[in-house]
Amino acid sequence: MEATITVLAGDGIGPEVTAEALKVLHQVSNRFGHRFATQPALIGGIAIDETGMPLPEATIAACRAGDAVLLGAVGGPKWDNPNAQVRPEQGLLAIRKALGLYANLRPVTIHPLLIDASPLRPERLEDVDLLVVRELTGGIYFGEKRREQRADGEWASDLCVYSEAEIARVVRTAANLARNRNGHLTLVDKANVLETSRLWRAVTNRIVQAEFADLEYDYMLVDAAAMHLLRRPADFDVIVTENMFGDILTDEAAMLAGSMGMLPSASLGEGTMGLYEPIHGSAPDIAGQGKANPLATILSLAMLLRHSLGLEQEAHAVEAAVAATIEAGIITGDIARPGRRAHKTSEVGDAVAARV
Ligand code: IPM
Ligand code: MG
Repeated sequence: MEATITVLAGDGIGPEVTAEALKVLHQVSNRFGHRFATQPALIGGIAIDETGMPLPEATIAACRAGDAVLLGAVGGPKWDNPNAQVRPEQGLLAIRKALGLYANLRPVTIHPLLIDASPLRPERLEDVDLLVVRELTGGIYFGEKRREQRADGEWASDLCVYSEAEIARVVRTAANLARNRNGHLTLVDKANVLETSRLWRAVTNRIVQAEFADLEYDYMLVDAAAMHLLRRPADFDVIVTENMFGDILTDEAAMLAGSMGMLPSASLGEGTMGLYEPIHGSAPDIAGQGKANPLATILSLAMLLRHSLGLEQEAHAVEAAVAATIEAGIITGDIARPGRRAHKTSEVGDAVAARV
């Protein structure tokens, strides 16, 4: 097949980890006889430096013209001034919104050889295979923000807004995914306090009852969910939740897999176009040192092949190559056992590509 992939490398370790994923993509095209074109475009801090904006129009146009987007990470201390009007993270939120990517899939699986890399006791990690479906284009991230001077000092607010339609579409995505997995859907909310959560609860209950009665369905308050993710993570299958809860819970869930460097994500909307990125950030402290773990980005590429290009066999080949690389002990320092050699970012990428 022919496909065009827009590559938004971004900042910090973003360029390093996307470079490794592109090596793997190249190998996939050789082995399976596809013609993949890649087109780089600017996002984040580097885009601010070069154009003054975190998401130039040209980048949106490039993404729209292609079949899928592979993204590294955005942000860094250089652009971190809290008073700045333009910030790298705005680029990331804006591209998700511009492409209508409201469902963010964040799967958490643990390779048996990496169980030791997690701070959790090994027996808790057996059989962990969960998927967080995070709503990505609504809620407190996108509501009106205000900051003003009042008589008693400064004042700020972030509005959290959800419509029934926004909730319904992501719940349907999650429920359909649950149907093809272990048939268990958990809604995470804060319905004992938040009105938006009460709407989430009502809409989800209604949709599940009417359209997904075959699923095992439950709901959980977000504070309890944070606890149960550590206490009995293997009991979860698909979690669906609002934007900010999903952001927080998936960093927590990453530690089940031992490292932020292991978790991929897919952001999807109505069509096949999607944006694929590791859940980790730009890690400026290790940028440029060859220490970054490229596996989250390589696994995001596998999700791209599966969800946007419909190449299940190829996606599986990449995932199997990642597993084989871990089994060969070719891993970066974040997941290597104490005393074992930490391999470089490029060594890991080469090893995965060679195994595809
Ligand atoms: C993520 C990140 C982003 C988010 C930041 C960088 C804006 O934490 O993708 O999880 O909060 O969505
Ligand atoms: Mg996050």
